[in-house]
Amino acid sequence: MSLISNPEFSLINGQAHHSKTQVDVVNPATGEHLAQVSEADNQAADKALQAAAETFEKLASTTAHARSQVLRKWYELVIEHRQVLAEIVTKEQGKPLKEALAEADYAAGFIEWYSEEAKRAYGQVIPSHSQSHELTTIRQGVGVVLGITPWNFPLAMITRKVAPAYAAGCSFILKPSEKTPLAAIALAKLAIQAGMEVGAFQVLVTNDSKGLVAHLTESPQVRKLTFTGSTQVGSALLKQCADTVKKTSMELGGNAPFIVFDSADVEQAVSGLMAAKFRNAGQTCVAANRVFVAKGIAAELLNTLTQQVSTLTLGNGLEQGVDIGPLISLEAKQKAQQLLEDALAKGASIAYQGDKQSGQFMAPVVITDVNSTMRLFHEEIFAPIVSIIDFESEDEVVRMANSVPEGLAAYFYSNDGNQIRRVSHALEYGMVGINEGIISNPVAPFGGVKFSGLGREGAQEGLLEYQEIKYLCQKFS
Ligand code: SIN
Repeated sequence: MSLISNPEFSLINGQAHHSKTQVDVVNPATGEHLAQVSEADNQAADKALQAAAETFEKLASTTAHARSQVLRKWYELVIEHRQVLAEIVTKEQGKPLKEALAEADYAAGFIEWYSEEAKRAYGQVIPSHSQSHELTTIRQGVGVVLGITPWNFPLAMITRKVAPAYAAGCSFILKPSEKTPLAAIALAKLAIQAGMEVGAFQVLVTNDSKGLVAHLTESPQVRKLTFTGSTQVGSALLKQCADTVKKTSMELGGNAPFIVFDSADVEQAVSGLMAAKFRNAGQTCVAANRVFVAKGIAAELLNTLTQQVSTLTLGNGLEQGVDIGPLISLEAKQKAQQLLEDALAKGASIAYQGDKQSGQFMAPVVITDVNSTMRLFHEEIFAPIVSIIDFESEDEVVRMANSVPEGLAAYFYSNDGNQIRRVSHALEYGMVGINEGIISNPVAPFGGVKFSGLGREGAQEGLLEYQEIKYLCQKFS
C-alpha cells in the first residue's frame, strides 16, 4: 500500500474523494511541493457523516475485544511503518527525523494503550437502596465524533483521539491541519488495513476549515467534538457546539512556566529546559514559555544554557545531526520575531543568538530581563526563543507563574521536598513536571485547566471522553 502518492485524496468511507479543488502540501524546509490532496466540501462532509452514522450503529454490535484486536493490529502496522511515517512528518511538518521517529512511537503508544483499555471499559454495580432493585451502570460510545487536529504533531494528536474513540465504539471524522494532511491519510489507510471499518475513520482535508467545520458542527448527528489548537478557536468551537449540545474535549493553548529554584541541580534543570523548549523548534503547547530562575543561580544557569544552545544545529530535518527544523510558516516566524522585538524594545537583553537564518528557519535566541509588560510573557511563543525572568522568593514566582489565563503544563526544578509538595499543589496547571522537562506519555492524562481546555487525553480518562454513562435501574418482583 502506498502511504504517500501524488495526488492524494480526502478519504470518505474508504474511498478516494475526487474534487476540482486541491490542498497543496509543501515542505517547510525546502519549499518543495509534496502533494496535492483533493479537498472535501460540504457535500463530501455529508457523505462522510452518513457513513459515520451507519458505522456507529454497526459498531454497537461489535465486542470491545474485537475492537481491541483491530487497534492492536493498527499499532503493529504503525510500528512496522514508523520510518516511512516519520519521513512523511519531517517532509510536511519540518521536525528533525529523530523527533519524527519519536513521534511515530508516541503515536503508536496511544493505539497500543487503547487496544488494552478497550477491554476495561467497566461499568459498576451500585449498592442498592432496596432489596427489589438492582442498580448498575454501563459505558457506551457517545456516537459520531468530529476531530480537528493541528500540524505540530501530525501523527500523535490523531491517534490519541481516534484510538480511544474506536475503543469506545465511536466512528470518527477527522479534519487534520491542511498543512499536514499526508500523515493523517497514511494513518487512516493503516487503520483500514488493520481491519477498522471504513466509516470509522474518515479524513476530510480542506483549505476552508472554518466553513467545513461550521457545517459539520451544525449537524445533531455529530455527538462529540474533540479539538487541539488555540484557545481562541476552541472557544469559538464551543459556541458552535452549544446549539446541538455536543460533548467536547478541548486541548487549547499553553503558556508554561519553567521554574528553577535555588536548590535545583543546574545541569539537570538545563537539560530539562533544552527538551521542554526546543522539542519541535518550540512549537508545542507544553513548551517552556517563561523561564523563571532564582537570582542566586541565574548566572550559572545562563552560562550552562547558552553553552548548550550554541551546539544546536538548524537544518532540513532529513539531514543527519539536525536538532531544529524550520518553523511551520513565514507568518509563524514573523510573529516570533515581533515578540522578540517587542521584548527587546521593553528592556530585555540578548544573552545568545544563533546566526540569522533564511526562509522559515529561526535560529535559537536566549533573552534575559524579561518581565510581564512584554508580549511574550502573555503569548505562546511557539518558536526557539528562551525568555528568562529572575525571581527572589517562592511566593513571588508562584504568583507570576499563575498570573496568566492559561493552565496547561508547568515545570519546576527543586531538591527541597517540602517545597516540591507546596509548589506542585499551588501551580494552577493541569500537568506539572517536577525535575523533568518531558511529561507527555500515552498512559498519563494530558490536559489543562482554565483557558487551556476541557477534558483529558491519554490514560484511563481519555477513554471516558468518548463514552456516555448509562444508569440501569432494574426492579425485581
Ligand atoms: C501539543 O503541543 O499540543 C502536544 C504536545 C505533546 O503531546 O507533548
